[in-house]
Amino acid sequence: MSSEEYFERVIHFDNPQFNISTSTSIDSIRILQKYDSDESGVVWDASLMLAKYLEHGRSINCNKSFSNLSVVELGSGTGFLGIWMATLGSSVLLTDLNLTLIELNLKHNKEIVCCDYVQTAIFDWLDRTSYQTDKFLNWKPLKHIDLFLISDCLYYKEGIDAIYQFIQWVLIDCRMDCQFLVSYEDRDDKAEMVQNFLELLANNKYLEVTTIVNDQLHPEFRSPDLHIIKIIHC
Ligand SMILES: C[S@@+](CC[C@H](N)C(=O)[O-])C[C@H]1O[C@@H](n2cnc3c(N)ncnc32)[C@H](O)[C@@H]1O
Repeated sequence: MSSEEYFERVIHFDNPQFNISTSTSIDSIRILQKYDSDESGVVWDASLMLAKYLEHGRSINCNKSFSNLSVVELGSGTGFLGIWMATLGSSVLLTDLNLTLIELNLKHNKEIVCCDYVQTAIFDWLDRTSYQTDKFLNWKPLKHIDLFLISDCLYYKEGIDAIYQFIQWVLIDCRMDCQFLVSYEDRDDKAEMVQNFLELLANNKYLEVTTIVNDQLHPEFRSPDLHIIKIIHC
């Protein structure tokens, strides 16, 4: 690994003592980001906001634990959000089209992430042959997955359509009792596509969509142009 290729982003825990994966007093995770890369090479603000929302929720809910939660992250990029969830105690499957940077960041954080908590798999949302219920991406039965995380992945039409199809497949076709948290950033050139996605969700009578309101977000990690929605089967 050449240090010229990467720069590090350090994200601190609010409450390092909640971090169940570490036996030491490490107070942050350190994510390697790539200088010369496509959109998958950096931690996007939408994922920071979602990570901090989840951590904050646990703090204000008297340390409601994330242990025993099985979480899948779609379009994980650097792996930050999934690794963050693993440090909070969840069992996590990190997915993307390419796993190189994710694997690198898992190694980079090996002191705080126990490998029992994290696995990786290539998952292309456009590929419906991967939609399997018995062992989703060779990991766990779909019915054992509690939460799907999708951060800053609403940026091209084909992908957005595929994400919508995937959500429908999990929550409606398979009738899974789990939830999706989707975070995204307002961008003028993507606004119409994202609006169409939100309308599709809102008009689907089998889905319940809730916007996470300002009060529930971490006070230091929120911004008017960043949003989180929660989607469940109703
Ligand atoms: C803007 S980045 C967001 C990365 C990360 N979730 C974050 O918020 O920091 C979008 C991610 O979606 C992934 N992606 C794009 N199309 C995909 C597809 N068809 N299947 C799986 N992942 C895809 C990209 O590789 C990239 O990592």
